[in-house]
Amino acid sequence: MAFIVAIDGPASSGKGAITEIIAKKLNLKKIDTGIMYRCITLEAIEHNLTEKDQKEILELLNKTDIVMNENKVLLNGNDVTEKIRTKEVNELVSQISAIKELRYKMVEWQRKMAEGKDIIMEGRDIGTVVFPDANVKIYLDADVEVRAIRRYKQNLEKNINTCFEEVLENIRKRDKIDKEKEYGALKIADDAIVVDTTNLDIEQTVKKILEIIMNKQGE
Ligand code: DC
Repeated sequence: MAFIVAIDGPASSGKGAITEIIAKKLNLKKIDTGIMYRCITLEAIEHNLTEKDQKEILELLNKTDIVMNENKVLLNGNDVTEKIRTKEVNELVSQISAIKELRYKMVEWQRKMAEGKDIIMEGRDIGTVVFPDANVKIYLDADVEVRAIRRYKQNLEKNINTCFEEVLENIRKRDKIDKEKEYGALKIADDAIVVDTTNLDIEQTVKKILEIIMNKQGE
């Protein structure tokens, strides 16, 4: 029986960094579902589509091939690792990911990708929709200002020129859309353990989550 760790939480709550470290430590396959929504959003932008063009986006999805390697994302064979993190994608991805039929398809893909494997999957609806029977469910959270500071610092490190207020505003907006989605909304699963990282660094968070996983494995 495969072992599934679901990590959900809002934008910039640290899911990416934490998932990466835990995947390596426990030898789990890492799947970042945000990448999949970012890729279809990039495709939409490149075809001049918005969330209103649902039919066209669904057609596009059928022709879209996403490969997630260790540290690279290939979209129809092209390296889009950087391109899926731009301001343009950040501003549209929540709206695109709210398309219900798109989500049905994504969830189907995500379940297929995990088949027969021990995995750690991160996103917004992993513990609630994709794997409601996951062995471990974590909901990572942090104050919105703290999340915005982290994202702002990451941008500076990557030489991405943004202003703090803009980053904060974008995160607030994405939180709202992600929480109000009709299907697959960001919410805490009944049996999820909430880890608030507002006052924790990455090392402390990893330690806490590893303890939770070990306890679950021992049950
Ligand atoms: O985790 P992230 O910031 O890369 O996710 C980008 C967007 O994709 C986020 O605003 C919401 C959406 N998303 C989603 O709706 N469901 C998921 N399972 C993962 C991401």
